[in-house]
Amino acid sequence: MTNRKPIIAGNWKMNNTKENAEKLLKELIPLVADATAEVVVCVPYTAIETAVKLTKGTNIAVGSQNVSWADSGAFTGEISADMLLELGAKYAIIGHSERRTMFGETDETVNKRTKQAIAKGLIAIVCIGETLAERQGGITESVLKTQILGGLKDIPASDFDKIVIAYEPVWAIGTGLVATDEQAEAAVAYTRRELAALIGKKANEVCIQYGGSMNASNVDGLMAQPNIDGGLIGGASLKAVDFARVVKFSA
Ligand code: PGA
Repeated sequence: MTNRKPIIAGNWKMNNTKENAEKLLKELIPLVADATAEVVVCVPYTAIETAVKLTKGTNIAVGSQNVSWADSGAFTGEISADMLLELGAKYAIIGHSERRTMFGETDETVNKRTKQAIAKGLIAIVCIGETLAERQGGITESVLKTQILGGLKDIPASDFDKIVIAYEPVWAIGTGLVATDEQAEAAVAYTRRELAALIGKKANEVCIQYGGSMNASNVDGLMAQPNIDGGLIGGASLKAVDFARVVKFSA
């Protein structure tokens, strides 16, 4: 961690009805009230309104798990930035590996969604990460480079105030297989070097999160790494006590 403000974001994925969202947030709000990190919950679309109402006046911000590249129109099943902003969302996850592998997301669509999100005033959490086969094949860095160059193409350095990068090795997501502190730091440091090649010194201000089985027992070591500025938390964000412990890491 450095002087960049840490951002710990929960990615609830397709979990929690409105009723359950309410229960979880009511438990979470007092537990994280004194957190120094920025706390975000990226909830299903149907729970955004509930989450925004419940967290009003607290230190928890609300986000979505995707956003369309278009303003409006014939895009069945998509959601626009205006719709999310109207509900009070502040963040949007873009290019999560589950969307890349199951729903055909590409670096090109990630780039379009990211540009739209930031143009509209959302903060984009752009996900990158290699698969196990790619890591074992020794091509982690080239995969990250391709995702960075493609997903963040033609975005001016000044817009990176509204971009967070989440490095999430696909093999560590939902598997309990966390990257070691050294593996995570190496990949995040590489990501920052590639960002520097793209946007110069501004790269030092960009928050880069680690994600992939981050939880109460490994957060401190990961957050102690010089380039890791936060986390994108799946499973461990579904229990208030666990998520609060991650939010209140000690590094
Ligand atoms: P996990 O998910 O913490 O359950 O591994 C992280 C993510 O997919 O963002």
